[in-house]
Amino acid sequence: MTSIDLTDPDWWRQAVVYQIYPRSFADANGDGVGDLQGIISRVPYLTSLDIDAVWLSPFYPSALADGGYDVDDYRNVDPRLGTLEDFDELVGALHSSGIKLIVDIVPNHSSSLHEWFREALASPRGSAARDRYIFRDGSGPDGSEPPSDWDSVFGGSAWAQVEDGQWYLHLFAAEQPDLNWDNREVRDDFLTTLRFWSDRGVDGFRVDVAHALVKDLSEPLPAKATLPRQSESNGLHPLWDRDQVHEIYTEWRQVLNEYDPPRSAVAEAFVPAARRARYASADGLGQAFNFDLLQADWDFGKFRQVIKENLALAELNGSSSTWVFSNHDVVRHATRYGLPKDPDGAWQDGKAWLLSNGTEPTVDVAQGLRRARAAVLLMLALPGSAYLYQGEELGLQEVGELPAANLQDPAYFRSKGAEKGRDGCRVPLPWTVEGLSFGFGTGGSHLVQPKWFGSYSVQAQEGDAESTLSLYRKALAVRRGLQTGATLEWVDGVDWSLHFKRPGGWQSITNFGAAPIELPDAAVVLSSSPLEGEKLPSDTTAWLI
Ligand code: BGC
Repeated sequence: MTSIDLTDPDWWRQAVVYQIYPRSFADANGDGVGDLQGIISRVPYLTSLDIDAVWLSPFYPSALADGGYDVDDYRNVDPRLGTLEDFDELVGALHSSGIKLIVDIVPNHSSSLHEWFREALASPRGSAARDRYIFRDGSGPDGSEPPSDWDSVFGGSAWAQVEDGQWYLHLFAAEQPDLNWDNREVRDDFLTTLRFWSDRGVDGFRVDVAHALVKDLSEPLPAKATLPRQSESNGLHPLWDRDQVHEIYTEWRQVLNEYDPPRSAVAEAFVPAARRARYASADGLGQAFNFDLLQADWDFGKFRQVIKENLALAELNGSSSTWVFSNHDVVRHATRYGLPKDPDGAWQDGKAWLLSNGTEPTVDVAQGLRRARAAVLLMLALPGSAYLYQGEELGLQEVGELPAANLQDPAYFRSKGAEKGRDGCRVPLPWTVEGLSFGFGTGGSHLVQPKWFGSYSVQAQEGDAESTLSLYRKALAVRRGLQTGATLEWVDGVDWSLHFKRPGGWQSITNFGAAPIELPDAAVVLSSSPLEGEKLPSDTTAWLI
């Protein structure tokens, strides 16, 4: 049972945070789209998982050009998902079950339907309304070419032209115009938004593309061929991870600290580990996602290096590490770990969005699930906070077979089908073995659930002590009793294993190799797969005490 102290200012340091992608979690009104009442109806399930907090992906009014990350109104609820009253009810239901709530905030861009952008379109060049965004004249003799040759993250140009011939910048989809963070009104409005949700009882914020807000757009805009590689730019890239972005988060921290306990924040910033520390500093957001394990192949050496590096960083800046294997942007890790190993042994960016049409590699489902189970025990034994993505507790696989007509991800459209995009990890959860939408709701499901979904359902796993759901529940309950302090002591063992001790005699051993390994002389409290006699088999983690 959850027993988190709702007044503890440091609650986030060791928290297990469960990400809900609201349109795909539970649908109370039967329209095929998940909603807030659906989540409320599943609070007992969340309680049974023994998590500390829920992170709610965007639930704001949105035309869904990018799954809700195109926000029309930062201080309201999408009518398809509910009302502000429903939101208050959700906060109350979670809090009375001892569960905190983190909401997503999307400051880099609004949607093109936001009232500010509409006003910008209706206003002339050089107007105050246009200055809230990044408008430029085009290049070429008649300005008919975009101001620069930059690409958007989702493919195609990062510029779109408006009726009077000017262009605006969108690092993501064209429906997501980038806001101008040099504009004081923009800065102030987000402070209002932080207060708005904090006043409603929200405990923290997940900050979307936190490293993109400040840009150097001095003319002439550099050609993309001359841009530094993001990972090596050290603050000098014109678009990403500029040092001045931290001035914004210093202001945010002052607002977050007006509350008791202070509101937490976690940056989504795809920056090298060493640069992540500033996002996670105490006078900044406080914590930053570390995607290094998510990007690591299933390899003991790589895992050990990532863990060492991140624990050292957390110690340096006084934050805590974050660990994550899956989220709404990447192929589910139970599938990733079942893919053939890259010839060069490295996880490639393409695998994040995977499955470009027609080229799906064969997935070894059994291997993927076995490794995913081993991975979660390893992760939950580490000091720091762990972020889980809805459905991973069911061992859910990526849905690779979504029909093209059903795809929603702008990455699919903007890449002209070369990338299938991220819909395969966003398919509504299966709650029951049978039924129209496997218990997701009384209507259909906005992304088509495959036939095999029912076998992964909560109902199918509830009574099975060996199921992945049971493993997560046991692991989270055991962790709650054992997780203390931020230290970890490595134990030398066979080369292809990771073995460490935590305070209180808690040990975790993962066997990444093919041959079984000896276990130390201690009681096994949990293992991700059955032991082979007294030995730890391949792709298995055991906890001992
Ligand atoms: C979110 C994505 C989103 C993008 C643009 C991210 O990193 O996690 O889902 O598409 O930001 O908002």
